[in-house]
Amino acid sequence: MEEVIERPAEKEIWKDEKPKRNEGTPVLLNEISPEEGKRIITPDLELNRVLGGGIVPGSLVLVGGEPGIGKSTLLLQLALHLNEKILYVSGEESEQQIKMRAERISGKNDELYISTEISIARLFKQVKQLKPDVLIIDSIQTLISDFVDSTAGSIAQIKECAGQLQRYAKESNVPVFIIGHINKEGYIAGPKILEHMVDTVLQFEGDRNYTHRILRTIKNRFGSTDEIGIYKMEGDGLKQVNNPSELLITHKDEPLSGVAIAATMEGMRPMLIEVQALVSPAVYGNPQRTTTGFDLRRMSMLLAVLEKRGGFAFGNKDVYLNIAGGLKVEDPAIDLGIACALLSSIEDVFLPMNLCFAAEIGLSGELRAVNRIEQRISEAEKLGFESIYISKHNLKSLNIKKYNIEIRSAGKMEEIYQQLFV
Ligand code: TYD
Ligand code: MG
Repeated sequence: MEEVIERPAEKEIWKDEKPKRNEGTPVLLNEISPEEGKRIITPDLELNRVLGGGIVPGSLVLVGGEPGIGKSTLLLQLALHLNEKILYVSGEESEQQIKMRAERISGKNDELYISTEISIARLFKQVKQLKPDVLIIDSIQTLISDFVDSTAGSIAQIKECAGQLQRYAKESNVPVFIIGHINKEGYIAGPKILEHMVDTVLQFEGDRNYTHRILRTIKNRFGSTDEIGIYKMEGDGLKQVNNPSELLITHKDEPLSGVAIAATMEGMRPMLIEVQALVSPAVYGNPQRTTTGFDLRRMSMLLAVLEKRGGFAFGNKDVYLNIAGGLKVEDPAIDLGIACALLSSIEDVFLPMNLCFAAEIGLSGELRAVNRIEQRISEAEKLGFESIYISKHNLKSLNIKKYNIEIRSAGKMEEIYQQLFV
């Protein structure tokens, strides 16, 4: 049984004698300043973006992710690049390990303090002395409060320590970042409850076989949850990727069959991705269907549409589909790109390299309108594509003259086939 021992008042050690807020006294709404305080704008544009425009004073930010994905690197890098007094608390690594990591990453902060304290009470004593501008906790699973009678990393400990950090952040107005490991079920360590206690939840994701990482806003009291930040993990730290499409399209010298480019959206960000398909005769009688980065059932649906409406015999073929770069895409607007990659492979006809696609495909082979079509077209134009195929239902809302890219449209998959493959 986890047991919470009664909480004496002197627990909040970090507090100065006189409280900043007149606790217990209600305040008139009219007298509250709407200003959230001046945000700290970091040199990391991706991080600023996912936070909704920089670090909010007094905010509690949870950074979650699987072990080894780069959470410590991200926050140590932030600490090294900020021009603030920072206390980086690591119960995970020794001072020497942190020093070695810092040496790999460029950046220099003369006011960066490292602590390996794991007792939250002793930690708050250090905080009281140091008065940092930003506090970073790596990780919440290593902190221990004496007020809870259970081991570090238990739900009760995480709740208690996060609660104390939350009160500290609110009352001192110091922003606090906490790292939390994600367990196998994909939840940020232990309880979902941690997500309710913080202002912002950022999730760091990526495939360890690839270098790029995505920092996704799951919750944000101070901004949109549709934001993502993109990084590349390199030998000397995480590099911002301000133009993701360039990372995701492998620039080839000559066109290849089975490859199509689709204009997708990741949150609010338009991105061009490369879809690769391989359709080959099934030798072992039992046709294989494999996808990487795309829903297998959705591909089966698209194959069924192509079979039924176009008469293509995928039934006795192996079909492999891959989104290049290790990205996982759920956006239905890449349907048309996928269908064209599949057709390009089965017909062994390559598509022009300067062409891309953005449309959803319905069960009768009709091309359906997709959201944020203007952004997708602009991104394609920006990257030098010469034409883009969209649904004719998206045309109505568009001012075609505005673009320097040829906008082609169709209503059905059959028309696309006639125009590109015959
Ligand atoms: P880390 O930040 O320790 O991950 P987490 O805190 O989420 O567990 O990052 C771990 C991986 O990143 C590790 O395998 C080494 C690699 N790495 C680099 O490739 N380049 C670097 O500059 C650094 C610091 C780490
Ligand atoms: Mg770590």
